[in-house]
Amino acid sequence: MILVTGATGRLGTQIVRVLRSVGLDVRCLVRKGSEYYWLNDTGAAYFFGDLRDPASVGRALRDVRYVVAAHGVRVERTDNDHKRVDADGSITLFHAAKERGVEHVVYVSCAGVESADQAPLFTAKRAAEEALVGSGLGYTILRPGLYVQNFADLARRVERNGNVFLPGDAATLVSPVHTRDVALMALAALDLPALRNVAVRVGGPETMTVGDAFARMCRVNGLPDAHWALPPAALRALGKLARPAGRRWRNRAEALAVHYAHPSAVDGAEMAALFGVPFTAYDEAARVAFTDRHPSEDPTARDEKVVHRQFTATIYEPGVISWDDLPAGPPPRRD
Ligand SMILES: NC(=O)c1ccc[n+]([C@@H]2O[C@H](COP(=O)([O-])OP(=O)(O)OC[C@H]3O[C@@H](n4cnc5c(N)ncnc54)[C@H](OP(=O)(O)O)[C@@H]3O)[C@@H](O)[C@H]2O)c1
Repeated sequence: MILVTGATGRLGTQIVRVLRSVGLDVRCLVRKGSEYYWLNDTGAAYFFGDLRDPASVGRALRDVRYVVAAHGVRVERTDNDHKRVDADGSITLFHAAKERGVEHVVYVSCAGVESADQAPLFTAKRAAEEALVGSGLGYTILRPGLYVQNFADLARRVERNGNVFLPGDAATLVSPVHTRDVALMALAALDLPALRNVAVRVGGPETMTVGDAFARMCRVNGLPDAHWALPPAALRALGKLARPAGRRWRNRAEALAVHYAHPSAVDGAEMAALFGVPFTAYDEAARVAFTDRHPSEDPTARDEKVVHRQFTATIYEPGVISWDDLPAGPPPRRD
């Protein structure tokens, strides 16, 4: 059994689909409030829990041999923040995995953790990486740079508003990667000896500047390359201005400044040789990422793709879990 955390996320969804497509048993750790049911058609099992709740994490790991940890906080909420989830939640997960006798953990971190940058997302990811390396578990740490989907998000704003702020430094070299390719890399990491107990920076097959990645995303999707530059210094200043509204916008600005200004280029040929997976060429990935949105981002896709076929499974230990921990049940059928 493979436990996938962050299964409802943009990357996690792809991971569940890839693992299930090769017939592996998958259990998704999902929050009760998550929109998990678009994974129903995969036949993956669900466990309802939360990385901030150690008891639920321990139970989710019962009979689990491998963990693929793809959780993360993109925009912090009052109590769901980088410290509680990306750092403490990950550490809880790794300790519990060790106790449960898990063989191998694939942890999705991010490029930039190795730099001395103190942005909260990166310090949290670094703490998680250190805990995993020191845990005695078998591990693979994947450190992707920017996802192709990030540029698709920006292009959608151009479609909606006619223009967008391009964060970071347009000259930064990056190798944008499609989340499906990261999912294939996670699958390879469960299997390949060369990927045991290593931290690898990962990316897509082509290296380009942030400015070019955005321009190509717009071009292949028939949009103008219309943007205003939002350099890291300006981003950070805006984050500071937003401070009275809460730290989350400041932290988000810090994360964007690192993501879009920290060089994260990789050698595509080296990636292909190491992982042995077919990578999606950037223009193709750009087309797919722009049209094939995550259901949470597209009401039309949501109606078309959300599958209510069956409520697959809830794993619980009778007498240990309370009635409130159980899901309310499947959503109403719409098809
Ligand atoms: N976007 C990028 O360019 C990029 C680049 C490098 C690395 N990464 C890393 O890649 C990973 C996946 O990114 P993504 O874009 O797929 O993120 P995402 O779409 O925001 O998904 C995050 C996932 O984490 C889950 N999660 C959040 N808080 C949780 C909690 N308290 N307990 C359990 N699960 C929780 C979310 O569940 P809910 O559905 O319940 O919210 C969701 O499934 C992250 O670790 C991210 O840092 C991203």
